[in-house]
Amino acid sequence: MLPKINKIGVLTSGGDSPGMNAAIRSVVRTCAFHSIECIGIYRGYQGMIEGDFKEMGPRSVNNIVNKGGTILKSARSKEFMTAEGRKKAFDNLKKAGVDALVVIGGDGSFTGAEVFNKEYGFPVMGIPGTIDNDIFGTSHTLGYDTALNTVVEVIDKIRDTAISHNRLFFVEVMGRDAGHIALNTGIGAGAEEILIPEEDLGLERLLESLKKSKESGKSSSIVVVAEGDKIGKTVFELKDYVEENMPEYDVRVSVLGHMQRGGSPSCFDRVLASRLGVKAVESILEGKSNFMVGLLNDKVALTPLEQAIKGHTEIDKELLRVSDIMST
Ligand code: F6P
Repeated sequence: MLPKINKIGVLTSGGDSPGMNAAIRSVVRTCAFHSIECIGIYRGYQGMIEGDFKEMGPRSVNNIVNKGGTILKSARSKEFMTAEGRKKAFDNLKKAGVDALVVIGGDGSFTGAEVFNKEYGFPVMGIPGTIDNDIFGTSHTLGYDTALNTVVEVIDKIRDTAISHNRLFFVEVMGRDAGHIALNTGIGAGAEEILIPEEDLGLERLLESLKKSKESGKSSSIVVVAEGDKIGKTVFELKDYVEENMPEYDVRVSVLGHMQRGGSPSCFDRVLASRLGVKAVESILEGKSNFMVGLLNDKVALTPLEQAIKGHTEIDKELLRVSDIMST
């Protein structure tokens, strides 16, 4: 006998990403399509603890498919890491008549959902929302495609001034401890070198590569550095190191920061968000719980939440080889 689901809660948690609003819209509209009520929970798990809820009908998500950020806001909640906090949250959900929860976020958010389910048997479903693309069980997380295009556009602009002044730029990009953004945008923007945590290039090889670029006639260079890179120097220290060892280089640094998290989601992210929202709600209605919905071989697929949390997304070795060849 399937548990009767009359009302589904949805929240966004962790770092926001473009496409989260499109996913919220999809969850709300899929609930309405199936005559299920939907409750928006503000500020992630912290809002669940405080009972910061809002009834959401299909019209409440008008004109947000193209908006970056999240209308439900996001937060990281230390209180939800405590049993007391989770008890308050559970009591609030029951009082509001919520029967299941859709969590849009990263692996940290899914860990909270998993613990909550284990403690209360409360049905949970995850939608991968982070620009890092570091979640196992999906080829794309929500916001990743948009972030790639944002970063490539910015690096193209930086290249204009690098060329004009014959400069070397170190450009730091986000990704927490994954190099997916750095590797793909480095190739897309024609960077001479890409530093990622998954492959330690080392300082000597970096200098050699820059020397080779110079000798091959390149008068300006771009090095894309993943924020989690393990070379052992910050981008500012890399600047100093190169200036000391290669005085012929005029070096500058750009740290792109949180602009990578904003902006109107790409069409890809809007479609992905719409597909994942439908799958998340309909999986709950089929009596499923503790899964993450994701995209695998362009098909929407379910991955057990535990695997999504514990799994690791490998860097594409073929892409590494392409980036080496492109910097010839
Ligand atoms: O996880 C998404 C992300 O943007 C990472 O790429 C970055 O390291 C982190 O969030 C920044 O966190 P905060 O928004 O708390 O500064």
